[in-house]
Amino acid sequence: MKKMEVARTIEELRLHTDAWRDLGYVIGLVPTMGALHAGHMALVEEAKKHADVTAVSIFVNPLQFGRNEDFDRYPRREEEDLAKLREVGVDRVWLPTRDVMYPPGFATTIRVGGPARAGLEDAHRPGHFDGVATVVAKLFNQTGARVAAFGEKDYQQLLVIRRMTRDLDMPVNIVGVPTVREDDGLALSSRNAYLTAEQRRTAPRLYAELTRAAESIRAGTSVEAAAFNARQALEDAGFTVDYCEVRNAETLKSVKDQRHESLRILAAARLGDVRLIDNIPV
Ligand code: PAJ
Repeated sequence: MKKMEVARTIEELRLHTDAWRDLGYVIGLVPTMGALHAGHMALVEEAKKHADVTAVSIFVNPLQFGRNEDFDRYPRREEEDLAKLREVGVDRVWLPTRDVMYPPGFATTIRVGGPARAGLEDAHRPGHFDGVATVVAKLFNQTGARVAAFGEKDYQQLLVIRRMTRDLDMPVNIVGVPTVREDDGLALSSRNAYLTAEQRRTAPRLYAELTRAAESIRAGTSVEAAAFNARQALEDAGFTVDYCEVRNAETLKSVKDQRHESLRILAAARLGDVRLIDNIPV
């Protein structure tokens, strides 16, 4: 097996990146915040198909967490993560510290619009997508990636990154990867580790209700009624629903003509203080 390089400083990273570029290699990147699971691994497999060499970044990005969010308790499992990446044959792992990513005096951020202002995640996490876009732009520059894989699990994020790369002419091909789920339908997430046993039993209802809503829309129910019913069913099951909406799958705008648009149903709901998000095509 070829050796996996671990870089922790910009200098270490650049050394290898420059060598790869000189060889004309297409560099693939999978940006993550660690606590890796099979969903992340599906992204790695996809990136590998499109690239000559593959890098994974692990960085819990403070810029994208709100003040009352879970930055401090977000799971950090560096050793386990590195073992998993070694096993799948990743070439480079980029592990910047906070100071490497945001050196003293750091003062530049990207402000995203369009899908980042759809009134979904952005309505509940102010500034979140600006923080995501800023770190992803830095990761693209740092790694020299020409291909990057993002999960449909974070569907709004995927569209925000696509928009940003187009708007800022970043030479990076954004590849979307379908959501990887547990057998009972629950989307894999690093945050599932926060669930109590009882919450874990309730959690699959999120996907189940989205699935049911999508089926009823296909059977002719209006998008408003289907979303309302799903929200109601989730509240009855014990969730506090932040949003549950059907939107245009490309723009995330409200649906005008449900028979002629491609649709996506998206939801965020909390069980206690654990926040779950999910979405599926209709
Ligand atoms: P993180 O939550 O670690 O997710 C990293 C990538 O894995 C994202 O593209 C996400 O959509 C994808 N992913 C997570 N769960 C998945 C699942 N069950 N199936 C398929 N893909 C899944 O998203 C972030 O980190 C950050 O915002 C980041 C992009 C790294 C910027 O900080």
